[in-house]
Amino acid sequence: MAHRTIVGIDVGTTKVCTIVAQAHDNGRLNVLGVGLTPSKGLDKGVVVNIDEAVNAVTSSIEKAERVSGYRIGTAFVGVAGRHIGSLNSNGVVAVARTDHEITRQDVARAVENAQSIAIPSQREVIHVIPRAYIVDGNQGIRDPVGMSGFRLEVETHIVTGEVMAIQNLIKSVQRGGVEIDDLVLQPLASGEAVLTEDDKDRGVVLVDIGGGTTDIAVFVQGGIWHTSVLPVGGNHFTNDIVMVLQTPYHTAEYLKLKYGSALAGEQAEESEDLVEVEGFSQGERQQISRHLLNQVIQARAEEVVELVYNEVRRSGYEGMLPAGIVLTGGTALLPRFDELLREMLSVPVRIGVPTNLHGLADSLDSPPYATAVGLVRWGARHGSAAEDSTPTDDRERWNSAYERFKHWLREFLP
Ligand SMILES: Nc1ncnc2c1ncn2[C@@H]1O[C@H](COP(=O)(O)OP(=O)(O)OP(=O)(O)O)[C@@H](O)[C@H]1O
Ligand SMILES: [Mg+2]
Repeated sequence: MAHRTIVGIDVGTTKVCTIVAQAHDNGRLNVLGVGLTPSKGLDKGVVVNIDEAVNAVTSSIEKAERVSGYRIGTAFVGVAGRHIGSLNSNGVVAVARTDHEITRQDVARAVENAQSIAIPSQREVIHVIPRAYIVDGNQGIRDPVGMSGFRLEVETHIVTGEVMAIQNLIKSVQRGGVEIDDLVLQPLASGEAVLTEDDKDRGVVLVDIGGGTTDIAVFVQGGIWHTSVLPVGGNHFTNDIVMVLQTPYHTAEYLKLKYGSALAGEQAEESEDLVEVEGFSQGERQQISRHLLNQVIQARAEEVVELVYNEVRRSGYEGMLPAGIVLTGGTALLPRFDELLREMLSVPVRIGVPTNLHGLADSLDSPPYATAVGLVRWGARHGSAAEDSTPTDDRERWNSAYERFKHWLREFLP
């Protein structure tokens, strides 16, 4: 069976994860190597210290190269952060051929029209994703090429980000000696790893709660309808514990991982409720109430659920998403978070885990790795911008809006 070797690098707020995998035509991923390192130099999904970020990314790349024996030249890289914005935009054209058969050129012109919206100079387009087509007023068409019509309209989802934030991310990877195949919005990558086609057809919200951000993607009728990155994640839970229980950060993180729950429940007998942990000064011990700990966690969890709900409402598809919510990212491992979501929003909720992995993939079938696995899947599905360009203009590619536009068309045209 035909396969290609594809690399994904998830530069997260808490970890950098590089995956080298062979993608087979049937969707099977054969993992050749994984490089996992703690992240440095990132805050809420954005590079804030370039040298620290370069070190973390480089070390992750080197680990993945050592394990796989594969020299990484290019990679698909995830992008997130509060600078991300998204909107839906339609483009319309008259069908060009005299016999009114719709061609790929018509589609390309319609998509070009859709993305000719005014984008402020400090922002750039990351994705232009056609969601559906309208031919002479008939809606919901997924592939119009070959159909007959007078008027072709395309609905697109456009994702933009701040130029500087994007440049710093690109630099962090390039200084590690790796060129960018493509930047992919993190929730779209995570969605590739944990959603089924059926989820997307029925309507689903992907929620990836990591360390620094909560990434959201709403899919309707198989297409992407709304995306958003909120600057709150698992680290905020830990910080709350530091503030309220007056513990050092590493103790708070330990308490969260060992005793944490998104539903505090009833308070237990005092003897069972109290746990002893390390305090601020050396040798100091401190007694912590598990019930209080989980009240702190629950308060933050409820706030995150409300933010997610607001975002879904903003998308305009509240109540029309039968597949409900798929929760992923490291914070999805917080016990009873899925239960809290289900209780507060009255929708089906499941934990999204990457599947269909083979080879050296033992630990990747867990929520924190949804983005990294999804980047490889995205690469397998959409291909690389690098394949379109000659080696010499590789570095220039991301600076040329036209080159990128040509690439999006190739990536998403039916
Ligand atoms: N068992 C667990 N219970 C609760 N929280 C957990 C558990 N395991 C991991 N986490 C939390 O998950 C977060 C890390 O998740 P993840 O690895 O998805 O983040 P990231 O991708 O590096 O960050 P981001 O996507 O926000 O930039 C941390 O806050 C960590 O405390
Ligand atoms: Mg993440």
